[in-house]
Amino acid sequence: MKQFIAALPKVELHLHIEGTLEPELMFALAKRNGISLPYADVAALATAYDFHNLQSFLDLYYQGAAVLQTEQDFFDLTWAYLVRCHEQHVVHTEVFFDPQTHLVRGIDMGTVVGGITAALDKAEQQWGISSCLILCFLRHLSEADALATLEAAIPYLDKIQGVGLDSSEVGNPPSKFVQVFARARALGLKAVAHAGEEGPASYIWEALDQLQVCRVDHGVRSTDDPRLIARLAEEQIPLTVCPLSNTRLKVFDQMADHSILRLLDQDVCVTVNSDDPAYFGGYMQENFEALAKDLKASKEQLRQLALNGVQASWMPSLRKKRLI
Ligand code: HPA
Ligand code: ZN
Repeated sequence: MKQFIAALPKVELHLHIEGTLEPELMFALAKRNGISLPYADVAALATAYDFHNLQSFLDLYYQGAAVLQTEQDFFDLTWAYLVRCHEQHVVHTEVFFDPQTHLVRGIDMGTVVGGITAALDKAEQQWGISSCLILCFLRHLSEADALATLEAAIPYLDKIQGVGLDSSEVGNPPSKFVQVFARARALGLKAVAHAGEEGPASYIWEALDQLQVCRVDHGVRSTDDPRLIARLAEEQIPLTVCPLSNTRLKVFDQMADHSILRLLDQDVCVTVNSDDPAYFGGYMQENFEALAKDLKASKEQLRQLALNGVQASWMPSLRKKRLI
Protein backbone atom coordinates (compact mmCIF):
# COMPACT_ATOMS: atom_id res chain seq x y z
CA MET A 1 0.00 0.00 0.00
CA LYS A 2 2.87 2.39 0.81
CA GLN A 3 4.23 1.88 -2.69
CA PHE A 4 0.82 2.37 -4.25
CA ILE A 5 0.44 5.69 -2.41
CA ALA A 6 3.99 6.76 -3.27
CA ALA A 7 3.31 6.13 -6.96
CA LEU A 8 0.05 8.15 -7.03
CA PRO A 9 0.55 11.62 -8.51
CA LYS A 10 -0.64 13.82 -5.65
CA VAL A 11 -1.92 17.39 -5.49
CA GLU A 12 -1.84 19.42 -2.30
CA LEU A 13 -4.47 22.14 -1.84
CA HIS A 14 -4.31 22.93 1.87
CA LEU A 15 -0.81 23.69 3.10
CA HIS A 16 0.33 26.58 5.27
CA ILE A 17 3.95 27.31 4.39
CA GLU A 18 4.61 28.50 7.96
CA GLY A 19 3.34 25.09 9.07
CA THR A 20 6.16 23.32 7.23
CA LEU A 21 8.78 24.79 9.57
CA GLU A 22 10.46 21.69 10.97
CA PRO A 23 12.00 22.01 14.46
CA GLU A 24 15.54 21.61 13.08
CA LEU A 25 15.06 24.48 10.62
CA MET A 26 13.39 26.58 13.33
CA PHE A 27 16.51 26.24 15.48
CA ALA A 28 18.84 26.88 12.53
CA LEU A 29 17.00 30.07 11.53
CA ALA A 30 16.82 31.25 15.14
CA LYS A 31 20.60 30.90 15.35
CA ARG A 32 21.16 32.59 12.00
CA ASN A 33 18.97 35.54 13.05
CA GLY A 34 20.13 35.83 16.66
CA ILE A 35 16.74 34.94 18.10
CA SER A 36 16.39 32.90 21.28
CA LEU A 37 13.66 30.26 21.42
CA PRO A 38 11.98 29.32 24.72
CA TYR A 39 13.07 25.66 24.28
CA ALA A 40 16.45 24.11 25.07
CA ASP A 41 16.58 21.98 21.93
CA VAL A 42 14.64 20.21 19.18
CA ALA A 43 13.49 17.46 21.56
CA ALA A 44 12.10 19.96 24.08
CA LEU A 45 10.25 21.76 21.30
CA ALA A 46 8.81 18.51 19.95
CA THR A 47 7.33 17.64 23.36
CA ALA A 48 5.39 20.94 23.25
CA TYR A 49 3.54 19.67 20.14
CA ASP A 50 0.80 18.11 22.23
CA PHE A 51 -2.29 20.01 21.15
CA HIS A 52 -5.81 19.86 22.56
CA ASN A 53 -7.52 22.15 20.05
CA LEU A 54 -6.85 24.62 17.22
CA GLN A 55 -5.85 27.53 19.48
CA SER A 56 -3.25 25.52 21.40
CA PHE A 57 -1.59 24.80 18.06
CA LEU A 58 -1.90 28.35 16.71
CA ASP A 59 -0.11 29.78 19.76
CA LEU A 60 2.98 27.66 18.97
CA TYR A 61 2.68 28.14 15.22
CA TYR A 62 2.79 31.95 15.47
CA GLN A 63 5.65 31.78 17.96
CA GLY A 64 7.66 29.54 15.61
CA ALA A 65 7.07 31.81 12.61
CA ALA A 66 8.98 34.59 14.38
CA VAL A 67 12.30 33.03 13.28
CA LEU A 68 11.43 33.87 9.64
CA GLN A 69 13.05 37.23 8.90
CA THR A 70 14.81 37.45 5.53
CA GLU A 71 13.94 36.54 1.96
CA GLN A 72 16.50 33.73 2.25
CA ASP A 73 14.60 32.36 5.30
CA PHE A 74 11.35 32.24 3.33
CA PHE A 75 13.18 30.62 0.43
CA ASP A 76 14.78 27.97 2.67
CA LEU A 77 11.46 27.21 4.36
CA THR A 78 9.63 26.80 1.06
CA TRP A 79 12.45 24.85 -0.57
CA ALA A 80 12.53 22.32 2.29
CA TYR A 81 8.79 21.74 1.76
CA LEU A 82 9.24 21.35 -2.01
CA VAL A 83 11.98 18.75 -1.50
CA ARG A 84 9.34 16.73 0.41
CA CYS A 85 6.89 17.27 -2.45
CA HIS A 86 9.45 15.93 -4.90
CA GLU A 87 10.25 12.92 -2.68
CA GLN A 88 6.54 12.13 -2.25
CA HIS A 89 5.44 12.64 -5.86
CA VAL A 90 3.38 15.76 -5.20
CA VAL A 91 3.07 17.22 -8.69
CA HIS A 92 1.17 20.41 -7.89
CA THR A 93 0.73 22.43 -4.70
CA GLU A 94 -1.38 25.45 -3.74
CA VAL A 95 0.40 27.13 -0.87
CA PHE A 96 -1.11 29.39 1.81
CA PHE A 97 0.90 32.11 3.48
CA ASP A 98 -0.04 34.38 6.39
CA PRO A 99 1.42 37.83 5.61
CA GLN A 100 -0.06 39.52 8.70
CA THR A 101 2.10 37.29 10.93
CA HIS A 102 5.15 38.81 9.26
CA LEU A 103 4.04 42.39 8.48
CA VAL A 104 3.35 42.99 12.18
CA ARG A 105 7.03 42.16 12.87
CA GLY A 106 8.22 44.78 10.37
CA ILE A 107 8.92 42.35 7.53
CA ASP A 108 7.61 43.56 4.21
CA MET A 109 5.35 41.80 1.76
CA GLY A 110 8.09 41.72 -0.90
CA THR A 111 10.46 39.80 1.37
CA VAL A 112 7.83 37.15 2.10
CA VAL A 113 6.43 36.79 -1.42
CA GLY A 114 9.89 37.03 -3.01
CA GLY A 115 11.38 34.23 -0.93
CA ILE A 116 8.41 31.89 -1.30
CA THR A 117 7.98 32.38 -5.05
CA ALA A 118 11.71 32.05 -5.80
CA ALA A 119 11.52 28.54 -4.33
CA LEU A 120 8.24 27.73 -6.12
CA ASP A 121 9.74 28.84 -9.44
CA LYS A 122 12.89 26.76 -8.88
CA ALA A 123 10.82 23.63 -8.13
CA GLU A 124 8.84 24.12 -11.31
CA GLN A 125 12.01 24.47 -13.39
CA GLN A 126 13.89 21.65 -11.67
CA TRP A 127 11.13 19.09 -11.12
CA GLY A 128 8.05 20.32 -12.99
CA ILE A 129 6.13 20.83 -9.73
CA SER A 130 3.52 23.48 -10.54
CA SER A 131 2.06 25.73 -7.86
CA CYS A 132 -0.24 28.57 -6.85
CA LEU A 133 0.11 31.00 -3.98
CA ILE A 134 -2.83 31.93 -1.72
CA LEU A 135 -2.73 34.90 0.63
CA CYS A 136 -4.60 34.11 3.85
CA PHE A 137 -6.19 36.68 6.13
CA LEU A 138 -6.00 36.00 9.87
CA ARG A 139 -9.61 35.90 10.98
CA HIS A 140 -8.89 36.81 14.62
CA LEU A 141 -7.81 40.26 13.34
CA SER A 142 -10.15 42.94 11.98
CA GLU A 143 -11.47 43.23 8.46
CA ALA A 144 -9.72 46.62 8.24
CA ASP A 145 -6.39 44.89 8.88
CA ALA A 146 -7.20 42.33 6.17
CA LEU A 147 -8.06 45.14 3.72
CA ALA A 148 -4.76 46.90 4.45
CA THR A 149 -2.93 43.59 3.91
CA LEU A 150 -4.64 43.11 0.56
CA GLU A 151 -3.64 46.63 -0.49
CA ALA A 152 -0.02 45.87 0.50
CA ALA A 153 -0.15 42.81 -1.77
CA ILE A 154 -1.28 44.70 -4.87
CA PRO A 155 2.28 45.12 -6.29
CA TYR A 156 2.69 41.32 -6.09
CA LEU A 157 -0.63 40.16 -7.53
CA ASP A 158 1.10 38.63 -10.56
CA LYS A 159 2.50 36.05 -8.11
CA ILE A 160 -0.69 35.45 -6.07
CA GLN A 161 -3.67 33.50 -7.41
CA GLY A 162 -6.11 33.57 -4.51
CA VAL A 163 -7.08 34.62 -1.01
CA GLY A 164 -7.98 32.46 1.97
CA LEU A 165 -9.09 32.80 5.57
CA ASP A 166 -7.42 31.03 8.50
CA SER A 167 -6.59 31.21 12.24
CA SER A 168 -9.05 31.03 15.17
CA GLU A 169 -12.39 30.04 13.68
CA VAL A 170 -15.02 30.05 16.42
CA GLY A 171 -16.32 33.60 16.95
CA ASN A 172 -14.75 34.83 13.69
CA PRO A 173 -17.29 33.84 11.02
CA PRO A 174 -16.77 34.31 7.29
CA SER A 175 -19.40 37.09 7.34
CA LYS A 176 -16.82 39.28 9.13
CA PHE A 177 -14.80 39.42 5.87
CA VAL A 178 -17.40 40.09 3.18
CA GLN A 179 -15.87 43.37 1.99
CA VAL A 180 -12.27 42.21 1.76
CA PHE A 181 -13.28 39.08 -0.16
CA ALA A 182 -15.38 41.20 -2.56
CA ARG A 183 -12.36 43.45 -3.12
CA ALA A 184 -10.10 40.42 -3.69
CA ARG A 185 -12.52 38.95 -6.23
CA ALA A 186 -12.74 42.33 -7.98
CA LEU A 187 -8.95 42.22 -8.26
CA GLY A 188 -9.26 38.90 -10.10
CA LEU A 189 -8.27 36.65 -7.22
CA LYS A 190 -9.93 33.31 -6.50
CA ALA A 191 -11.32 32.72 -3.01
CA VAL A 192 -11.20 29.89 -0.48
CA ALA A 193 -11.78 29.89 3.28
CA HIS A 194 -11.30 27.64 6.27
CA ALA A 195 -14.79 26.82 7.54
CA GLY A 196 -16.29 23.98 9.54
CA GLU A 197 -13.02 22.84 11.15
CA GLU A 198 -14.08 23.71 14.72
CA GLY A 199 -16.80 26.15 13.68
CA PRO A 200 -20.39 25.16 12.81
CA ALA A 201 -21.82 24.12 9.45
CA SER A 202 -23.42 27.59 9.21
CA TYR A 203 -19.90 29.02 8.66
CA ILE A 204 -19.62 26.83 5.56
CA TRP A 205 -22.87 28.27 4.20
CA GLU A 206 -21.51 31.77 4.90
CA ALA A 207 -18.22 31.03 3.14
CA LEU A 208 -20.13 29.82 0.07
CA ASP A 209 -22.86 32.46 -0.05
CA GLN A 210 -21.15 35.54 1.38
CA LEU A 211 -17.49 35.06 0.38
CA GLN A 212 -18.24 33.10 -2.81
CA VAL A 213 -15.44 30.64 -2.22
CA CYS A 214 -14.74 27.97 -4.83
CA ARG A 215 -13.44 25.47 -2.21
CA VAL A 216 -13.88 25.03 1.52
CA ASP A 217 -10.81 24.29 3.66
CA HIS A 218 -11.55 21.49 6.16
CA GLY A 219 -15.38 21.63 5.98
CA VAL A 220 -15.72 18.43 7.99
CA ARG A 221 -18.51 19.85 10.17
CA SER A 222 -20.68 19.75 7.02
CA THR A 223 -21.75 16.30 8.19
CA ASP A 224 -23.96 18.02 10.80
CA ASP A 225 -26.18 19.39 8.01
CA PRO A 226 -27.69 17.04 5.38
CA ARG A 227 -28.89 19.98 3.23
CA LEU A 228 -25.33 21.26 3.07
CA ILE A 229 -23.96 17.84 2.13
CA ALA A 230 -26.51 17.70 -0.69
CA ARG A 231 -25.37 21.09 -1.95
CA LEU A 232 -21.65 20.25 -1.76
CA ALA A 233 -22.28 17.06 -3.74
CA GLU A 234 -24.65 18.65 -6.24
CA GLU A 235 -22.33 21.58 -6.99
CA GLN A 236 -19.14 19.51 -6.57
CA ILE A 237 -17.68 22.10 -4.20
CA PRO A 238 -14.38 20.62 -3.00
CA LEU A 239 -13.44 20.20 0.65
CA THR A 240 -9.70 20.23 1.41
CA VAL A 241 -9.61 17.74 4.26
CA CYS A 242 -6.54 17.28 6.49
CA PRO A 243 -6.73 13.92 8.30
CA LEU A 244 -3.62 14.10 10.53
CA SER A 245 -4.38 17.72 11.42
CA ASN A 246 -7.92 16.78 12.42
CA THR A 247 -6.78 14.07 14.82
CA ARG A 248 -3.88 16.11 16.25
CA LEU A 249 -6.23 19.05 16.95
CA LYS A 250 -8.96 16.74 18.30
CA VAL A 251 -11.53 17.57 15.65
CA PHE A 252 -11.90 13.77 15.67
CA ASP A 253 -10.81 11.74 18.70
CA GLN A 254 -9.10 9.15 16.53
CA MET A 255 -8.54 8.50 12.85
CA ALA A 256 -11.05 5.63 12.90
CA ASP A 257 -13.77 8.26 13.56
CA HIS A 258 -12.82 10.45 10.59
CA SER A 259 -15.66 11.23 8.18
CA ILE A 260 -13.63 11.55 4.96
CA LEU A 261 -14.70 8.21 3.47
CA ARG A 262 -18.34 8.77 4.41
CA LEU A 263 -18.15 12.12 2.58
CA LEU A 264 -16.57 10.38 -0.41
CA ASP A 265 -19.42 7.86 -0.39
CA GLN A 266 -21.91 10.72 -0.46
CA ASP A 267 -20.25 12.03 -3.64
CA VAL A 268 -18.64 15.05 -1.99
CA CYS A 269 -15.39 16.10 -3.72
CA VAL A 270 -13.11 15.52 -0.72
CA THR A 271 -9.33 15.83 -1.08
CA VAL A 272 -6.39 14.86 1.16
CA ASN A 273 -3.94 17.48 2.42
CA SER A 274 -1.35 17.99 5.14
CA ASP A 275 -2.22 21.48 6.56
CA ASP A 276 0.82 22.04 8.84
CA PRO A 277 2.93 18.92 8.32
CA ALA A 278 5.85 19.92 10.57
CA TYR A 279 3.43 20.16 13.50
CA PHE A 280 1.01 17.32 12.77
CA GLY A 281 3.33 14.41 12.07
CA GLY A 282 3.21 13.99 8.34
CA TYR A 283 3.20 15.24 4.78
CA MET A 284 0.98 13.99 1.94
CA GLN A 285 2.28 10.41 1.93
CA GLU A 286 1.67 10.00 5.67
CA ASN A 287 -1.84 11.46 5.41
CA PHE A 288 -2.79 8.96 2.70
CA GLU A 289 -1.13 6.15 4.66
CA ALA A 290 -3.17 7.01 7.75
CA LEU A 291 -6.39 6.60 5.74
CA ALA A 292 -5.25 3.22 4.47
CA LYS A 293 -4.19 2.00 7.91
CA ASP A 294 -6.83 3.40 10.25
CA LEU A 295 -9.84 3.78 7.94
CA LYS A 296 -9.01 0.77 5.77
CA ALA A 297 -9.35 2.95 2.67
CA SER A 298 -9.10 0.86 -0.50
CA LYS A 299 -6.77 1.59 -3.42
CA GLU A 300 -9.81 2.68 -5.41
CA GLN A 301 -10.82 5.16 -2.70
CA LEU A 302 -7.27 6.52 -2.41
CA ARG A 303 -7.06 6.90 -6.17
CA GLN A 304 -10.38 8.78 -6.19
CA LEU A 305 -9.18 11.09 -3.40
CA ALA A 306 -6.02 11.88 -5.39
CA LEU A 307 -8.06 12.48 -8.57
CA ASN A 308 -10.37 14.80 -6.63
CA GLY A 309 -7.26 16.81 -5.74
CA VAL A 310 -6.44 17.22 -9.42
CA GLN A 311 -10.04 18.21 -10.24
CA ALA A 312 -10.29 20.67 -7.35
CA SER A 313 -6.99 22.39 -8.18
CA TRP A 314 -6.47 25.57 -10.16
CA MET A 315 -4.03 24.01 -12.59
CA PRO A 316 -4.72 24.55 -16.33
CA SER A 317 -7.23 22.07 -17.74
CA LEU A 318 -4.68 20.59 -20.15
CA ARG A 319 -2.43 19.65 -17.22
CA LYS A 320 -5.46 18.21 -15.41
CA LYS A 321 -6.30 16.03 -18.40
CA ARG A 322 -2.78 14.62 -18.44
CA LEU A 323 -3.09 13.63 -14.79
CA ILE A 324 -6.55 12.06 -14.94
N1 HPA B 1 -6.89 26.15 10.86
C1 HPA B 1 -6.91 27.46 11.02
N2 HPA B 1 -5.83 28.21 10.90
C2 HPA B 1 -4.68 27.63 10.59
C3 HPA B 1 -4.60 26.27 10.43
C4 HPA B 1 -5.77 25.49 10.55
O1 HPA B 1 -5.82 24.26 10.39
N3 HPA B 1 -3.30 26.00 10.14
C5 HPA B 1 -2.63 27.17 10.12
N4 HPA B 1 -3.46 28.16 10.41
ZN1 ZN C 1 -5.35 25.04 7.43
